[in-house]
Order: sequence, then C-alpha cells, then structure tokens
Amino acid sequence: MCGIVGYVGDDSAKEVILTGLQALEYRGYDSAGIALSKNGKLLIRKESGELKNLVKRTQAKDFEAHIGIGHTRWATHGSPTRENAHPHVSQDGRIAIVHNGIIENYQELRQWLTKEHNIEFKSVTDSEAIAHLVSIYYKGDLLEAVMTATEKLSGAYAIGVIACDNPDEIVAARMDAPLITGIGENGNYLASDSPALLKYTRDIYVIENGEYVVITKDNIRIMDKDGTRIRRQSTHVDLDAAAAEKGGHPHFMIKEIYEQPEKVKEALKIRLDKHNNVKLEGIHFTKAQLEGFDRVYIVACGTAYHAGLIGKYAIEKYAKIPVEVDVASEFRYRDPFVDDKTLVICISQSGETSDTLEALREAKKRGGRILSLVNVVGSSVARESDDVLYTWAGLEIAVASTKAYTTQLICLYLVALYMGKVKGSIDTEHYRTVIDELLLIPEKLETVIRSERRIRELAEDVYKKEQIFFIGRGVDVATSLEGSLKLKEISYINSFAIAAGELKHGTIALIRRGTLFLALATQDKVYEKMISNIEEIKARKAFVVTISKDSRKSIEKVADRTLYIPDCIDDLTPILAVVPLQLFSYHIAKLRGKEIDKPRNLAKSVTVE
Ligand code: M6R
Repeated sequence: MCGIVGYVGDDSAKEVILTGLQALEYRGYDSAGIALSKNGKLLIRKESGELKNLVKRTQAKDFEAHIGIGHTRWATHGSPTRENAHPHVSQDGRIAIVHNGIIENYQELRQWLTKEHNIEFKSVTDSEAIAHLVSIYYKGDLLEAVMTATEKLSGAYAIGVIACDNPDEIVAARMDAPLITGIGENGNYLASDSPALLKYTRDIYVIENGEYVVITKDNIRIMDKDGTRIRRQSTHVDLDAAAAEKGGHPHFMIKEIYEQPEKVKEALKIRLDKHNNVKLEGIHFTKAQLEGFDRVYIVACGTAYHAGLIGKYAIEKYAKIPVEVDVASEFRYRDPFVDDKTLVICISQSGETSDTLEALREAKKRGGRILSLVNVVGSSVARESDDVLYTWAGLEIAVASTKAYTTQLICLYLVALYMGKVKGSIDTEHYRTVIDELLLIPEKLETVIRSERRIRELAEDVYKKEQIFFIGRGVDVATSLEGSLKLKEISYINSFAIAAGELKHGTIALIRRGTLFLALATQDKVYEKMISNIEEIKARKAFVVTISKDSRKSIEKVADRTLYIPDCIDDLTPILAVVPLQLFSYHIAKLRGKEIDKPRNLAKSVTVE
C-alpha cells in the first residue's frame, strides 16, 4: 500500500525520502514521487512504475533541498500514471500534499472546487482535492489551513503537506491511516511506517486519529483537533535493521520461510513458564469471565483468516466455546451477533488492514471484548484492542505471508490451551500432550525445511501447469486454502482449494487427465476417507501429490508423488504441513520467473476497504 516519507533538517531531504521509500517498497506500489521546497518554489518529480525510475529522475544536482515529502502510490482511484502519482500540487503551485487512505466524498469536493474555485484537476485521484482545499484556506498558517481542509474530508487519511513559502514546516494529519513522526539529531521525520526511518532513527511518536503535527528541524508538535498541544512519550522501535535485508537469500520470502523454526520457538518460549504452563503476557481471564463468553468470533483477512480457521478447531476442542470465523470485510456488514458475552479475536500481521480494523471497531461498538493477535507492535489493531498478543515473527517483508502465519498458529494454540486450562475444559493429560508436542515443533520445522530439494524437484516437474487443486479434510482444509492462496498470489496459477469430501458435489467435473492435485492427508482420524478421495480423483486420471505424516508410507500406493512431514499429533499438523506448500509455491514462482516478493497488484498491508 501507499507509503509516506517526509523530512526537514540539515541533511538532504531527497536522500532521506528516497531511502525511506525504498525501505517501504515491500508494501507494494505502482508509482512514486517527491516534492521539495526550495527558494520559495516547489520542485516536483513523479514517475510511474518502479522506484528506480524516480531515482533516475531525481539525480540532478539542483534537485536538492532540506525539506520535502515523498510517496509511493498503490492505485485506488485512477491508473498508475505519472499524473496520478503523488505529491499533488495545488493549482496556484504553492501547496504539495501526499496522502494515504481514501477520501470518500472526493466527488463532491471535486465538483465544489471546480464550480466555486475554478480548479482544473490534473489527476483523477481522490487525493488531489486535498491540495486544492489546503491552498484555498492557506493564509500563511499552514497548520490552520490543514485543519480547516480536513474538516471537509470524510474517509481515511494520513496526510503530509508542505508549502513553497514555508521552508521550515511539514504539517501532517491522521484519520484511520497509519502515521508516525521520527525524532532525529539533524532534523525530524514523517512516515507511514517505522521501517522507513530505521536508517535514521528508532525514536518515534505514533500519531493518533484526529491529531495534527507540525514538524520542524528542531521540534515536533502534536495537537488535537482544537489545536491543544498533546505531550506524548516517544516510542523506541525495536526492529533489527538486518531484518530488512535478505541476508544472502535471493528473496525475502525464502528467508522468511527459513526463519520459521526460530520464530516459532521464540513465540512459544516466552509464553511458557518454568513448569511449561501457558502464560499470556498481560492477558488474564478468570474462569467466570471465560464461562461468560457464549461465543467467539475470529475475524481476519487472507492468510490471517486461514490461521483463524485453524484457531476455531483448537478453541472449540480445548476451551469448548463455539467459534465462528469470518472474513473481516464481510463481518462488519452482516449484523453479527456480538454483545458483551462475545470474545472477538482479530488476527492481523500488519495490524493496519482496514477491513480487520473496521470489523474490530464494529465489534467493539456492539460490546464485544477484543483480543488481537498482531505482529506489528503499536499498530492500529493492537492499540484499539482490549488485549493484544504479539506474534513476534519480526519484520515480514515478502507480500506472501509465511512466518507471520505460523506464529499466528502458535499464538492461537496457546490462547486455546490457556482458555481450556482456566475453564477446566481440557484435561491435564491432553493439555500436557499438546504442550510437549508444541515444544517439538521447531525441530520438526527444521526437518521439513531440509526436505526442500524434493519439493523443488516436484516444482520443476509441474511448474507449467495452469491449474492446481488443493484438497484435505479437517484442519487440512484450512491448510489447503492457505497453500492455494500462496500459490496464486506469487505464481499467478489458477488454484483452488476444497474440502476433499465436497469434490464429488460438483468440482470433480473439472478433473481431466493430468489435472494436478495436492492432497493433504495429515489427519489420522480421516486418513482412510482421504485415501478414498484420492482414489476417486486417480480414477479420473488426475496427477496426485500427497502430503502426509512420515509413518504413512502406505500412501505411496495411491499417490503419484509424496511429500512428508514428521509425525505429530493431528491437532498440530497445520504448522508443519503449510511449509512444504510455501516452498512449493516459492519454487513454482521462481521457475516461472515471477516477482516473488512483490507480486503484481498486491500490497503488504491493505489499508483500503
Ligand atoms: O496484515 P494482515 O495480516 O491483516 O493482512 C491480511 C492479508 O492481506 C494477508 O494475509 C494477505 O492475504 C497475504 N498477502 C497472504 O500471503
């Protein structure tokens, strides 16, 4: 999604902004631009396509200044052209703005600006209206102009503004889109995300909804909507700068797949006390509270939603509370049964996904208690929840989520075990077995990763297929959905996941000689049923690759190719079984020559509805 970077200080604003935008590249964009303010003029450069196009266009020595704003745009209103790229400049050429989010009333604003102020729009974006609005209200006080302009906006925004006759200030405003400021030695910074500033500073202020900021070289002033100054503690960002590098790997995705054993180990270790009982930092539910919940909703999008599907199995099994899992974009519009007896679990890697955030707000409005599983510390979902459990996967850069998913699974199992223990709904022996097995997972993940060669060879044999099906039963359905999503998002192969038992109700009609199936058969409980489903598709000449537990070698009798995961209890196989699917997708995409870390049309964090 769009990224914002701004700087005012002694250093080159161009360098700071380009470095920041490069650090945000992983979030996805399709055009970029910079505005600098120098000698009473605005200098603007914008380019569509990759950031290197913009870098080329900003090389000139005279394109230098000490104050500026920059933006990477992920197109929503209007195609990714130079005209639609930010910064947008007001008609009088005095104001430049960058904007993340969506202005919902932009049509009305355009009409009003055109009719009443003779504005001729240069782009088809919703954002350009902001530049004209600020300029209409600008009478020498930029903050006042931005405050008045934002009163007219409805929708979501994080905005950075500069004026050509004010070379000392960047003014910014936030409503429902992430925004931070960075505290530096040689100046101060503005950004949509902290990775943009890692090279320069780790001390930041998180800007909240409805707040305004004036950033100068020596000062950062945060104000509420009435202009009253807000004093805030700065936050120290504890991100490892090396996390933003590939560390010798060709892609972030493979680096992040390899990191899973370690990240899963960390996510577990900090939640187990010396007796290996689950303790969830800062989260306490009493038995009465848990018994008071008559249902749990899990709300999330994409990969996080697939983690939720597995969470449902664990919570229902250990905590004995009915769970409904909902796609966040649907949840908020379907009048869900949420009240003070509902626990709502929101899952989000970025913590900024608009659909998830809005679902959270809807659930909160209805009285639900919100527990979030989030990776990015201090993100909006984390801040607006009653309780937060961080997944501690570290910075995830590849658009295709891998380590965030497996750490989400770990947290869901721990939440389910914790709830079960407090409620007394899981017996001690079962509780112990699951924890003992969880502790073995990091080592077993290493084993799966070591089988990469076999997975790569399989990918070499099938990468030209144009359609791939994933099937499974029980938790393997959720793993199939995740495997299928991973494959389609980075390889652009049309893939489809379905419960194996559901095939015969329609989808089986698609099978022809050689149709490729990835059949997950990790569940002992339904193993024989799965074998029957595999026989059914084999009878129709499909090519079947199976994923099963090591000890299930008998599967070789029905499968064309086999991949194995180490033996483990049925409940926990999703953490292991997803890894061959991640590696399979990665190698297929690589063999097809695709942009693995930044697939087309996708963004790392989806901050629009
Ligand atoms: O940041 P979030 O976890 O809220 O993101 C949700 C989805 O957009 C995300 O999981 C997406 O599906 C990934 N690209 C999948 O790999």
